[in-house]
Amino acid sequence: MPTDTSYHGGLADFFAGAGQQHPTNAYLDRPAMLGLIGEVAGQDVLDVGCGPGFYAAAMADRGAKVTAIDGSAELVRVAERTAGERGTFLQHDLERPLPFADASFDLAVMALVYHHLYARRQLLAELRRVVRPGGRLLVSTTHPMSEQRWLGGSYYEGGRVDAPIGGPGSGFTINFERMTVETFVNEMLDGGFVLERLLEPRPSAELRDADPEKFAQLDVKATVLTVALRRPAREA
Ligand SMILES: C[S@@+](CC[C@H](N)C(=O)[O-])C[C@H]1O[C@@H](n2cnc3c(N)ncnc32)[C@H](O)[C@@H]1O
Repeated sequence: MPTDTSYHGGLADFFAGAGQQHPTNAYLDRPAMLGLIGEVAGQDVLDVGCGPGFYAAAMADRGAKVTAIDGSAELVRVAERTAGERGTFLQHDLERPLPFADASFDLAVMALVYHHLYARRQLLAELRRVVRPGGRLLVSTTHPMSEQRWLGGSYYEGGRVDAPIGGPGSGFTINFERMTVETFVNEMLDGGFVLERLLEPRPSAELRDADPEKFAQLDVKATVLTVALRRPAREA
């Protein structure tokens, strides 16, 4: 059972290249998350598990002051290049406390990372600490229905899995926790965040033009689950 779930070596190269253009990332996760991110000019934002830096770059383009962290040294370097070196980029294992002062950020964005982690409750406590009162946390994850189609088994049972990615023969696996929607959302609420929006995005219109067959396949399947949360402005 791996304890370091960060993407290293060939998996980092794969994800930085073809993986980033996978329909789940390019046509489901990113359109939904970028819509929620909205206007961030002048804001202090944290890209949690930044991977190759798509979100870091997009938020820098929108005028945010970006900090981006990931456990993969390779992907942190890619992210820094993707964002044109606008921001602060750090290798950091999210199983450990965050290296930031209290109330450092207006917004934290954590796309397709949370399910990889073991110390999820600690991370949420840390995110609540470093996000300013009244600030936002956006989280996306693989939809549990998608994992059930992919891996079978009980929707309810949960637990850690090693799952193949990158197509037949790639040899790459990723390790993550299967969670129900109920578990995922309640972990966020238990972490002291307020739920403002829950999305189950359908593929964007660009996919209909780029690959109508893929669009038709994805447009009937829940694939990504996205939540917009807020740290309450006043402590309860
Ligand atoms: C599916 S990728 C998502 C990357 C990026 N957020 C995006 O949406 O393009 C998952 C990322 O989580 C990172 N990751 C996984 N476990 C981690 C850990 N324990 N600490 C830090 N980063 C981790 C991986 O290295 C990888 O970059």
